[in-house]
Amino acid sequence: MTDTRDALIDAARDAASRAYAPYSGFHVGAALLLKNGDVVTGANVENASYGLTLCAETTAVAKIANEGWIGELVEVAIVGGRPEGDTLIGSDPVNPCGRCRQILNEAAERSKTDILVHCASGDGGAVATYRLSELLPAAFGPKDLGMIPD
Ligand code: THU
Repeated sequence: MTDTRDALIDAARDAASRAYAPYSGFHVGAALLLKNGDVVTGANVENASYGLTLCAETTAVAKIANEGWIGELVEVAIVGGRPEGDTLIGSDPVNPCGRCRQILNEAAERSKTDILVHCASGDGGAVATYRLSELLPAAFGPKDLGMIPD
């Protein structure tokens, strides 16, 4: 369990090194664990218009959706901070923004899983783990549109 968590955090940290974040200087990586054990990652992609920025979780969920794996998600790790050399600075866990919680919920409902979300600090010293239902209670999702078969 902790091994899975730590491996996912490592994958998210590696993804963060590929962030495109020249405006905020804040690099975020997300790692998605699928039912078959595969891990798919994403990092934030900023834009000169600022408001069009794509968060790490969003790019990662887009990747699994495009591969046909949106119903395969079981667990997520998120890491973020300011890069300094090969490491990230920051001692507080990075929690998913509101939009990302909703985007993760799409995959979670499709996967019929109240996914685990590990939120890690840039310096690796702090990890907070939640179920998505704690981060986004009473969520609206595909089930509300009758899109989740029993
Ligand atoms: N960011 C993410 O990638 N995920 C989140 O859940 C929160 C914020 C990114 C967006 C932006 O590029 C940078 O962090 C600073 O807000």
